[in-house]
Amino acid sequence: MKQVLLLLLGLISTSQSANILGIFTCPMPSHSIVQMSVAKALAEKGHNVTILTTVDPVIKHKNFNVIHIPLSPEDARYFKELFGSLGKTDTDGVLGSIVANPRELSYVPAMNVGVEKGAIMTFSQRIKTLAMSWGYRLWDAIENVENKKRYNFLYGDDPTMPRFEDLPKNISLMFFNSHGLSEGPIRPNLPGVIEIGGIQIKDTPDPLPKNIAEFLDDAREGAILLSLGSNIQSDHLQSDTVKKMFSVLSKLKLKVIWKWDKLEHIPGNSSNILYSKWLPQDDILAHPNIKLFITHAGRGGISEASYHGKPMLALPMFGDQQGNAGSMVKQGFGLSLKLLELKEKTFQNTINEILQNSQYKENVENFSKLYRDRPLTARQSVIYWTEYVMRYHGAKHLQSPLVHMDFIAANNLDIYGILGVSVAFVLYLIYLFLD
Ligand SMILES: *[C@@H]1O[C@H](CO)[C@@H](O)[C@H](O)[C@H]1NC(C)=O
Ligand SMILES: *[C@@H]1O[C@H](CO)[C@@H](O)[C@H](O)[C@H]1NC(C)=O
Ligand SMILES: *[C@@H]1O[C@H](CO)[C@@H](O)[C@H](O)[C@H]1NC(C)=O
Ligand SMILES: *[C@@H]1O[C@H](CO)[C@@H](O)[C@H](O)[C@H]1NC(C)=O
Repeated sequence: MKQVLLLLLGLISTSQSANILGIFTCPMPSHSIVQMSVAKALAEKGHNVTILTTVDPVIKHKNFNVIHIPLSPEDARYFKELFGSLGKTDTDGVLGSIVANPRELSYVPAMNVGVEKGAIMTFSQRIKTLAMSWGYRLWDAIENVENKKRYNFLYGDDPTMPRFEDLPKNISLMFFNSHGLSEGPIRPNLPGVIEIGGIQIKDTPDPLPKNIAEFLDDAREGAILLSLGSNIQSDHLQSDTVKKMFSVLSKLKLKVIWKWDKLEHIPGNSSNILYSKWLPQDDILAHPNIKLFITHAGRGGISEASYHGKPMLALPMFGDQQGNAGSMVKQGFGLSLKLLELKEKTFQNTINEILQNSQYKENVENFSKLYRDRPLTARQSVIYWTEYVMRYHGAKHLQSPLVHMDFIAANNLDIYGILGVSVAFVLYLIYLFLD
């Protein structure tokens, strides 16, 4: 969940509009959406944003100059495996260390240790957190040996470039895709660590298309939004599963908006179901009559529904969906069923359980309130802090002094060393005296 964004502020003009360079190397589409949302916030403010990216961005803006450099097939495969394995791990342990954000290992759990928000870690969870943190530091150190070689190969002869080791010393601040107060963990953050979790979600919804708006406004008993994502075509769904879903949904008093891309082959006709190929999902979830979101448990959909305080029924199929669904259920925002093993009765009972047991709604609504209650919205934060760094031509005053200290001083090892030697010396004197 935690991602770090790299934004370089270049050729800063003194007036309102600056030239901003974004280098987005991560080839994961879910990361790209977050990074491009940051770029969009800045472009909407009137900045001239140039983006170097490995993914063809879905988010566009007239103030963008996009330079798309696709990965070679080998690199794409490498990254897929790397990020597949990193997906649920604590990369922020490593990246926090770049800006020397305090990493309190006794109570800030590593990401996939699975500690509930606000809970105190057990002994074994603390061991796991400690081991993972050291593991990632080691991994980071090993990676950096390679990175340094690459850097020196590219820039080694250029006297105007800083040394590789000195690069973190030029970071003014970092944006994190998280919101600790609502999501946890509670931890100390440096002033230059700016949380912008939810940046990809609109602050205020756009008006809905007329047919959808009327359909939802009319839903006196409430409505359900069903979307199994853009990667799953209706062909991929077993017709048996679709039949079961239709049978349950068509009998509900609630209305259903069903994302379905083959309108000539719909699962069935029912007055309470509206099929649509394309849906403004975020705007629909914002509608007060939506009572339940049935989702394939993609990360984006879950964050949008959490943002709007809507309980969920997850139907994960593959990839990280299972994990996303698991943590959603753990937060108490809904329930999860395996799509491929869907049974009519279970589907129906689970829908009823989520609609009737107010616990799910209350949990997600409470989260939503906390998530949205901020002095600046995520967009406003991006704009404010980016322009802040520009105003001071790099905000070195935000940095932790730790960034500029060596390992010995940073850990007071010299003081402990002197103390140790002194104690040994005194003990030795006592020993001589007693002898
Ligand atoms: C915007 O940035 C591009 C470089 O990507 C540059 O060619 C262009 O001149 C810039 N526009 C302005 C108005 O500065
Ligand atoms: C980067 O930091 C070094 C050391 O503090 C400083 O000498 C240099 O001017 C900085 N470079 C930029 C581009 O800010
Ligand atoms: C639904 O109704 C439309 C028009 O009334 C009809 O063309 C279509 O065949 C029906 N589909 C199913 C699956 O019954
Ligand atoms: C939601 O918040 C309200 C008010 O803070 C509280 O009374 C209630 O217990 C919370 N519900 C859940 C399920 O945590």
